[in-house]
Amino acid sequence: MRTKIVAGNWKMNKTASEAAALIEGIKKEVAGISKVEVVVCPPFTDLKDAAAACAGSNVALGAQNVHWEASGAFTGEISAAMLKDLGVTYVIIGHSERRQYFGETDETVNKRTKAALAAGLIPIVCVGETLAERDAGQMESVVVRQTKAGLADLGDGLKKVVIAYEPVWAIGTGRTASPAQAQEVHALIRRTLAEISCGDTANTIRIQYGGSMKPENAQELMSQPDIDGGLIGGAALKADSFAAIVKAGV
Ligand code: PGA
Repeated sequence: MRTKIVAGNWKMNKTASEAAALIEGIKKEVAGISKVEVVVCPPFTDLKDAAAACAGSNVALGAQNVHWEASGAFTGEISAAMLKDLGVTYVIIGHSERRQYFGETDETVNKRTKAALAAGLIPIVCVGETLAERDAGQMESVVVRQTKAGLADLGDGLKKVVIAYEPVWAIGTGRTASPAQAQEVHALIRRTLAEISCGDTANTIRIQYGGSMKPENAQELMSQPDIDGGLIGGAALKADSFAAIVKAGV
């Protein structure tokens, strides 16, 4: 059985003090929940205060990106060891906004994923097609390519990875994939994982859905056989809506 995992992707929202306050609110709402893993991913500048707020609770901390090099002349970048040292457990890699606005490629996703695993972080690797790709009948080829390339050559590390399927047309648009549409792609991703791994690995990897997930649709989405949680943007910025999604997964 896969333990569901609900993660809040805060994107470029919340100052450090706002982050601490939001985490306090989330902690109260989700106290005692152990059936669903709860993760918050604030901006880098919030992580230290966020780690203090998460300490001793069932809310784990994630970051939104990581560089692949360990250290050196890479102005503006953050290494996996820096995140680990702050108490970060998870890191989002290859979010579609990074692919769209910041030149992220399947190759850099793979490098970041390897660096995260090497430092003991758990990568949340994002895949998903754009509307143009879906309309052109390319959903399957895009998702399979992103999955295979992003997760290439991870060895045993693959077992630790979390995948987030986020159709780009559903992110921040209010237009959610239907449970059947999402399940179809999640099953495709799991079949792809079976191709690139051995044993039972493909059945143990968690695949989150992301894209306008909210309290109203979370339960139906997460009750699909291959949907193991959510990566939540807008609805993660308020304690009550985020907690309602977590509870929908219990
Ligand atoms: P959304 O964002 O929930 O606001 O659609 C999801 C994401 O981008 O991870």
